[in-house]
Amino acid sequence: MNDLKVFKDMTVWRKYRETLGQKIELGLVPTMGALHEGHLSLIRKSISENEKTIVSIYVNPTQFNDKNDFKNYPVDLDQDLDMLKNLGVDYVINPVYEQMYPDNYRFRLTENNFSKLFCGKDRPGHFDGVLTIVMKLFNMVKPTRAYFGEKDFQQLTLIKDMVESFFMDVYIVSLPTLREHDGLAMSSRNVLLNEIDRKLAPWFNKILKMNISADEAKKRLEENGFAVDYVEDYNNRRLAAVRLGKVRLIDNEKI
Ligand code: PAF
Repeated sequence: MNDLKVFKDMTVWRKYRETLGQKIELGLVPTMGALHEGHLSLIRKSISENEKTIVSIYVNPTQFNDKNDFKNYPVDLDQDLDMLKNLGVDYVINPVYEQMYPDNYRFRLTENNFSKLFCGKDRPGHFDGVLTIVMKLFNMVKPTRAYFGEKDFQQLTLIKDMVESFFMDVYIVSLPTLREHDGLAMSSRNVLLNEIDRKLAPWFNKILKMNISADEAKKRLEENGFAVDYVEDYNNRRLAAVRLGKVRLIDNEKI
């Protein structure tokens, strides 16, 4: 088992980071915890490509536009840490709000175009929160590479664009969406689905993959009991978000 170092105090982490030096190849996997196989695939990739791997576990409040969604977001730190130890991760940072937002979110990073579409339309301010926290993590960790999943395709695109726009010295690595045996995209939110909705959920991806128009896909999803936030085609991809009860699911497929 690996000697996993867990940092809750970011002042301590930043001092420790200095001791690692500039030349170290450090991989960062940013997460909000409730880890699943999708996260683990990013972490394994980071371990294979870097001298050291750090995972951040932080449920970032500024990216939730709905207070209840934030309150209900699954948390299981002990289980997450066990998984990370077994994988051979070197460091975890698990900060509190005051340390990530000493300015109480007075400063934030806003993108004014792509972030306003799709998920950004349904979740105002969501991507401001995502980009701001990811930039803060990059500044605190100074990673060589950072790893993100393609499930959050809009997030991934915006992070790549942010890195380019601000000349950030980090290489973004993305990996394909991992799926459950029935095709449902892995997500921390899947555990929130009740039994009936969990059985219905795989139809989300099945319908997205059908050779039909986005409008037709939207109609089919609605007929099958999904509340549809959007189904839209963008740059050879079909992007979609749906809700089953209070649980919001997103997915995308190449078209
Ligand atoms: O994809 C996520 O889990 C989050 O949006 C991220 C990138 C960890 C930022 O909070």
